Amino acid sequence: MTEPTYEQKLAAEAELWGRDAVEKAQAVPPDWRYHRHLRHNVIYHTADIDAFLEQVKPGMTALELGCGSGWLTLAMAQRGAAATGLDISEQALIVARTYYESIRESVSGSAAFDVADLNNVSLPANHYDVIAVKGTLHHLMNMAHVIDEMHKALKPGGLLWVSDSHGEETLSTTLVASGLMFVLPTVVSYRDKISGLIRFGTKAPSRIKASIEAEGLSPFEGAGREHDWLKLIEARFDIEQRIPAPAVTGYITHQVRLPDGVALPLLRALHMVDRLFVRAKVLRSTGLILYARKR
Ligand SMILES: C[S@@+](CC[C@H](N)C(=O)[O-])C[C@H]1O[C@@H](n2cnc3c(N)ncnc32)[C@H](O)[C@@H]1O
Repeated sequence: MTEPTYEQKLAAEAELWGRDAVEKAQAVPPDWRYHRHLRHNVIYHTADIDAFLEQVKPGMTALELGCGSGWLTLAMAQRGAAATGLDISEQALIVARTYYESIRESVSGSAAFDVADLNNVSLPANHYDVIAVKGTLHHLMNMAHVIDEMHKALKPGGLLWVSDSHGEETLSTTLVASGLMFVLPTVVSYRDKISGLIRFGTKAPSRIKASIEAEGLSPFEGAGREHDWLKLIEARFDIEQRIPAPAVTGYITHQVRLPDGVALPLLRALHMVDRLFVRAKVLRSTGLILYARKR
């Protein structure tokens, strides 16, 4: 079988995320005011994303790369920015535009959603006050190009906010995750957990996580992991803040199958302990939030 071309892979990527956006929007509108109350966000993302959004002020120009269904671009517009979201998936952008049109009257700023391939994107120079990239860098192949373009497109002093995975999991993190995944009721049955442990040993949770990330088989899943985006950004920007995510809470939250009444207090406690362990360098997180300024 011949290896698919870049264009074929990109079309598959666009289709996958388009489907994802349509399915998610059927359950919850692509709007941070609703998403912030979802269980995994309450436990894991809401405080960090609200803190980022605090930085977005009325009248700012803002850009999101890999906006998917557009909820973060829209949230920046809801804070009064002139916001643009770029993505490869026209279908995801239709979801974003349709929802935006339906609530446009209540949005104090503006939102526009355009198709672009970030690996080959050309952005306007010195144009944006804020650029946000969430969960997208690790799908990109031309990392240095994208980071150069983001640097070019920001005004001097402009803010780059990145939230993505970075680096490899350590053995201690894998062991703690294995233990928790094994004991707690999760999406994976106890039978499959036992066979997973036999096959992969302590690497079982990373394998399960990887297979969940690749659900629907993104052809670019992990493509960007070959490049160290943090190093590339550090070389061009002043780093203002580096916030490591908790090491294990994220995927335990996604996988645990317990009613909210039991899960929420349990996950909150886990999140607190996890963050302490990450700070003490007992566990290593692969999730990283970065605030950087253009010099
Ligand atoms: C993991 S999703 C994140 C979506 C959104 N940022 C979020 O957090 O909900 C990755 C997004 O990157 C987009 N993407 C992947 N490769 C791309 C490319 N080469 N150019 C533009 N967008 C791309 C996908 O279509 C998808 O919407």
